[in-house]
Amino acid sequence: MKERIDLLLREVEEFSTKATAEVESFRVEMLGKKGKITSLFNDFREMAGDQKKEFGRPLNELKKFAQEKVSELKADAEESSDSVSGEDLSRPANFTSLGSRHPVNLVKNEIVSIFRSIGFNVSAGPEIEDDWHNFTALNFPEEHPARDMQDTFFVERDPDWALRTHTSSVQVRVMENSKPPIRTISPGRVFRNEAISARSHCFFHQVEGLYIDKDVSFADLKQTLLYFAQEFFGPNTKIRLRPSYFPFTEPSAEMDVYWGLENERDYRMTKGTGWLEVLGCGMVDPNVLKNNGIDPEVYSGFAFGIGVERIALHRFQIPDIRMLFENDLRFLEQFKAAY
Ligand code: DAH
Repeated sequence: MKERIDLLLREVEEFSTKATAEVESFRVEMLGKKGKITSLFNDFREMAGDQKKEFGRPLNELKKFAQEKVSELKADAEESSDSVSGEDLSRPANFTSLGSRHPVNLVKNEIVSIFRSIGFNVSAGPEIEDDWHNFTALNFPEEHPARDMQDTFFVERDPDWALRTHTSSVQVRVMENSKPPIRTISPGRVFRNEAISARSHCFFHQVEGLYIDKDVSFADLKQTLLYFAQEFFGPNTKIRLRPSYFPFTEPSAEMDVYWGLENERDYRMTKGTGWLEVLGCGMVDPNVLKNNGIDPEVYSGFAFGIGVERIALHRFQIPDIRMLFENDLRFLEQFKAAY
């Protein structure tokens, strides 16, 4: 018995392989039902009591040694097969974390695609503007208090340059560079020197719209905006136009959509009126057309400016505008499934 144990000890010790299948057949050869070590145990069971005392321990040690060897070889074989081919097709794929669109972009894209579908093209202008494009060409008189409607960030040392306070500046650039008919929307970021709070921020986004052609009327403006509102908020959406003032339009209006007054949140969001303010609009002032070389006797047009964040806050029921600009992934990841 002693010799057989020693022989097997050596055999186990000397065995070596890198192939998983060979490790398995070695295991069967040694520890399987009819394996060499198993049959030693069978013989052991037949022995007399005093012999059992002598061989019990070395036999158990042999078995343990063989088991350890098998698991070691198995681990080595698996590891080397991975690193050699690099193609263990049974392993789970690497996790790729997907990004998501920003809620402001989701809303902006939707607005843009609605207007594109009715023939508006998309235009863009610079975020740093001169006084002409942001104010003067838009009929803001010099030193006129209307300029205070929009608290401006000026570029240091040169009061002629500022961060644009609205995307209406792009209207001017489009009129400079093209002839009517004009049908364009200009999405972009704008800046105002305002205190940051839950409801207002020092930068935000607008989508500007401009339509100039012969015989464009206020009815065209109203119908275009109604179409937009029903595409965006739903087919039964009601709108209303309230008289307002902008230097670059005459007459001017603000458009509200009916949101409802069913619960406490509706009261809060609509200040108890049921109506949500969505955009400013109006007929392009003849002075603006003249400033940009378009004859107001021949052409007329309408314009509008939509606040993107304001709509995004309502659409996604976000309580605080600052959440849009903190880049907190826990917030942003919630919009993965939004569209
Ligand atoms: N520029 C305005 C603002 O920032 C929004 C606006 C109102 C744009 C009327 C327009 C318009 O084109 O016609 O508050």
